[in-house]
Amino acid sequence: MHNYTKIGKVLHHFLIVHSTNDVAKDMLSKTKPSSGSVILADFQSNGRGQRTNSWESDKGANILTSIILNHQIQSDHFFYLNKIVCIAIVEMLNKIIPNECIEIKWPNDILVNKKKICGILIENTIMNNIIQHSIIGIGININQEIFVNKDAISIFQITNSKFEINTALEYLFESLNNWYQNLLSYKYKLIDSVYINLLYGYHNEFNYQIENELFKGSIESIENDGSINIRNSNTDRISQFYFKQIKFIL
Ligand code: BTN
Repeated sequence: MHNYTKIGKVLHHFLIVHSTNDVAKDMLSKTKPSSGSVILADFQSNGRGQRTNSWESDKGANILTSIILNHQIQSDHFFYLNKIVCIAIVEMLNKIIPNECIEIKWPNDILVNKKKICGILIENTIMNNIIQHSIIGIGININQEIFVNKDAISIFQITNSKFEINTALEYLFESLNNWYQNLLSYKYKLIDSVYINLLYGYHNEFNYQIENELFKGSIESIENDGSINIRNSNTDRISQFYFKQIKFIL
């Protein structure tokens, strides 16, 4: 039986850090932070993204957070953490912007009207094939007015009004607590079906790129290890891809 984890009960708020994920990592190595502890920052001087990218965020404008989870999850179930975090964020955004098209771009970007509103960076500590600690890094664009990155979007840019970050955080923690409990109660089928139905390109044609070649295809399914099966529209053949092997063209 897992210890009861309440995400958001313990908050550590910083004005400026290098990266909230790094603060979480530091805490895990020095103290014993309780599961569900949250690190929040107004600004990151070295916000980290996927694929060695950086994460752009104006001071005080957005959600920049890392959540520490202590648990015991089989390492071959690691992708379920990605899934529940994505689902929780879509649920939270649906409360704030219910009339927009909110989708998950595999593996774990959240898109609104085909632009990226949120990035997720999950870092796990694994021992003997068991994930013992996870750091769930989440950046959600709330009130930023302008981005250098043309593919980014914020809630402000959609609604033209500022949204209270604390309220957005409350929604986020509520949804995360709910979906994390679903994961700890092994509700894999539920998680699979909600995730796949939110997926951009699921049974719908979209463009993708492998090396320098462009293709049209649609997502058929996701494997347990997080890899994706795509049906090529020209050849009708299904191929399996891992993260970094394929690029989605929006
Ligand atoms: C991505 O590239 O899509 C992932 C971006 C993750 C950004 C968040 S912001 C809070 C946390 N701290 C970091 O340094 N990165 C994550």
